[in-house]
Formats: sequence, structure tokens, C-alpha cells
Amino acid sequence: MMFDDLTRERTREIISRYPQSRSALLPLLHLVQSVEGHVSQDGIRYCAAALDLTTAEVSAVATFYTMYKRTPCGEHLVSVCTNTLCAALGGDEIYGRLSAKLGVGHEETAGEPGSTGSITLEHAECLAACDMAPVVQVNYEFYDNQTVSSAETLVDALARGEKPHPTRGAPLTDLRTASLELAGVFPGLETSVAGPSVSDETLRGARLASDRGWRAPSMPDAPPAFPPLPEKKP
Ligand code: FES
Repeated sequence: MMFDDLTRERTREIISRYPQSRSALLPLLHLVQSVEGHVSQDGIRYCAAALDLTTAEVSAVATFYTMYKRTPCGEHLVSVCTNTLCAALGGDEIYGRLSAKLGVGHEETAGEPGSTGSITLEHAECLAACDMAPVVQVNYEFYDNQTVSSAETLVDALARGEKPHPTRGAPLTDLRTASLELAGVFPGLETSVAGPSVSDETLRGARLASDRGWRAPSMPDAPPAFPPLPEKKP
């Protein structure tokens, strides 16, 4: 059975964290993805039954967020930021080269889905790491300051079954394990959180402000009153 006793136990544990069971939908979809490698119709039905929702309600959420994949994925999800800053600094070129090299387009998979070394490629919107642009993520772990050549080296290593260490953050695992962690389940907590989470680029502004004694202006005790709305014309 796809959703075994362990998954059902984890489902109960996740639901118990919330005052209202329906609030557990996002982590439950990640849990389903950790089991299936994507969110299938069976996964939609499983979440709906567990949370007393309709399948239409669960589908509406699963299709809204891009982190839930509706088709089987590779062992690794490679996300190339092609938002404005990364695109201008080489992200578009990186995406184009990886797409040609792997022979796949957006949300398509090179290799048998789930097999070792298989890779799903996607365009990504801003990954909130513009100071390290252009960036690539693998299973949501960061590979900063990429070039076409370093990105090609990265996917070559993934395809060989290797797991190059991200620039920062925890050691690389695979998409299913990352999905399990996003569900809030950490079988190996120590390794899941190992590694630096900030880079020098990110801290540089804070250090500069500290060296110069700059401080952020204090917040007002009360927020300014909202200006009155103009009179509605008859
Ligand atoms: S534009 Fe790529 S991380 Fe912000």
C-alpha cells in the first residue's frame, strides 16, 4: 500500500500540531510527496480523507503552490532562478544550457523518475538569494554564484549519483527526503540542520552598519492613523 502505517502515524502526528485539522494541509501534501515523489490523485484523496476536506479543496491548494509536483519527479529537483537579477547575471543562460544538456524543459525529468541520478529541471522565481546571483537550488539547497560551467559540473555529478555539498545549508539528500523535512518530520535532525545558513555576502551590509554605528530608526509606539477615505461621490 502506498500510504503505509508509518505514513499514517506521521499524518496523525502532523494533524495533532494544529487546532484545526485543515491547517495541516500544506505539511500533509509535502508528506504525500515524500512517499510518492509527487502528489498524485491518490495523494489528493488521502489528504482529503485525513482532513475531512473535499478533493476539490485539496486540489485547489496542490495546484496553486509550485512546490507540489503533479507528475513523477527525479531523485533531484534542480531549480534555476530565472528572475530578473539572476537572469541578467547568467540565470537564463544556465537554464538554457542545462535544458539542452538534459534534453528536458520546465518540470520535465531526465532519466527514470525516482531512479538514482534522475533530474527534474525547473525555472524558479526569485529564491531570495539575489546577493549570490545567479543561484541554483537542488532539492531547495543553495548553490550560489553559479556559472554555466559550474552548473553543468553540478548536474553531471548528480547524474553520476554524487551529492555535491551545497554552498550553505544542510548536506544534499534527495527530493523525497527534502519533502519529508518540509512536512516537519526530521528522522535525522542533526544532519538536517547541519551547515552554515548565511553567507558573507548576506552579512556584509550588517557588518558595515555595525562598523559605522548605524542603527535602524526606532519603530513608532503606535502605527500612524490611516488617513480618512475621500467622500464617495453621489
Ligand atoms: S533574482 Fe534570483 S535569487 Fe533573487
